[in-house]
Amino acid sequence: MARARSRYVCQQCGSVAFKWQGRCNDCGEWNTLVEEAEPAARKGSLSPTTASARPVPLSEVEMVSLKRATTGVAEFDRVAGGGLVPGSLLLVGGPPGIGKSTLLLQVAEGVGRGGGKVLYVTGEESLAQVRMRADRLGVKTAGVSLLSETDLEAVLATARETRPRLLMVDSVQTLFHPEISSAPGSVSQVRECTAHLMRLAKGDSITVILVGHVTKDGSLAGPRVMEHLVDTVLYFEGDAMHQYRILKAVKNRFGPTHEVGLFEMQHRGLVDLPNPSEFFLSQRVGGAAGSVIVPVTEGTRSMLVEVQALCNSTGFGYPARKSSGVDANRLVMLLAVLQKHAMAGTGNHDVFVNVAGGMDVEEPAADLGVLLAVGSSIVEAPVAEGTAVFGEVGLGGEIRAVGSAETRLAEAARMGFHRLLLPASMLKGRTRPQAPAGAQLVGVATLSEALHQAIPDFKVLLAKAREREQGRAEARKRAEATARSGQ
Ligand code: TYD
Ligand code: MG
Repeated sequence: MARARSRYVCQQCGSVAFKWQGRCNDCGEWNTLVEEAEPAARKGSLSPTTASARPVPLSEVEMVSLKRATTGVAEFDRVAGGGLVPGSLLLVGGPPGIGKSTLLLQVAEGVGRGGGKVLYVTGEESLAQVRMRADRLGVKTAGVSLLSETDLEAVLATARETRPRLLMVDSVQTLFHPEISSAPGSVSQVRECTAHLMRLAKGDSITVILVGHVTKDGSLAGPRVMEHLVDTVLYFEGDAMHQYRILKAVKNRFGPTHEVGLFEMQHRGLVDLPNPSEFFLSQRVGGAAGSVIVPVTEGTRSMLVEVQALCNSTGFGYPARKSSGVDANRLVMLLAVLQKHAMAGTGNHDVFVNVAGGMDVEEPAADLGVLLAVGSSIVEAPVAEGTAVFGEVGLGGEIRAVGSAETRLAEAARMGFHRLLLPASMLKGRTRPQAPAGAQLVGVATLSEALHQAIPDFKVLLAKAREREQGRAEARKRAEATARSGQ
């Protein structure tokens, strides 16, 4: 038998070195190598190929149509590509506490109610804890069985014996293969357990859903090294401070990867959010300065978010730039464009930008919305009633075209926004979008044109705002001088 010798496995990317080193050669991370004994030679191979495998001409490969089983959780089905494919292996990753176990139990309930047998393996919580959560969620179908187990071989044996339609493992980090010496959750364990579960899924046509934890920065070993092994990777994201959750497909061998599912976490579990715009705009106060409505896209859907900005004269020190939901570096760049091309400098202002509801907006299509919100706050006047805007802002102050115009416009119009500002270049050519019924499309080519269109009399208001600021600065100086002379 091969003598077990030491090897060092990077907990970040899974690459193996045979001597210890401070930095991983592959991913460049520091202090991620952990010593693990090399697995002794095992009976059988993990590879699904056998000696009898032979090549088959492409044209002779049998076509199989994928039969998907819907789970009853509509937003989950949407992200999985229309339901679960029998024999597929899915990984649901996400930070602790985001709601993965909750989601799985709700999917289990849906499948159970549809007549399927579900085996839910819990390695993290006791059976009583899972039962308590299930009660809270109203999960009561007879089709769901629980198993409290962390030994992979026991899990596999139970699954082969009971033959569920769906096997859930919460979480893969708690599983261990008895023949591997390293601790549960280490890269070797996670990889080996996943490979065995993959064979179970394919060989016995059982759909397997694994839960994998990632820390906030995604640095923990596990899901990242499993991504290439599994069929589908879904990430569950959201902000613990807010109620909404997004489920994103980052890899899907059986469906599209750009689809997202939206949920709201309520006290009785996750509720589908088929109308996200309504959710994100529900607490909006109309007619407020510094507030702009932007149709953003997630997957194939558009939804409206409210971008808010607050600009105040800086009290002392450097002006602050703080953002939540918008990239901070992009904000600094946009403010520079605002200063250069619209004469609306914020050098003496603290600027705070926020996307209401806790949504992260990554697409440049929100650029124009951010700057109009800042402009509106500087002049202390709201944007014109019923306006929604989108467009990327270039360094030259030009408004650049973005994708998904039709769905953005349709969503804005559906929510009652009838004056829609968009890049002028998108209104030219054969593929220009049609205005939704009752809505007016306003093409804007430059930032100053956009400010002028969105905020009536912007130039006059800006001059007045500057006068007010000057007046305040002078009053402050006078007060300081009086205080000094009085001392
Ligand atoms: P959980 O599914 O345990 O998260 P994960 O498995 O990703 O670690 O859920 C975590 C949070 O969700 C928990 O802090 C409480 C909250 N929650 C609700 O708000 N409503 C509910 O109905 C449930 C079950 C949980
Ligand atoms: Mg959990």
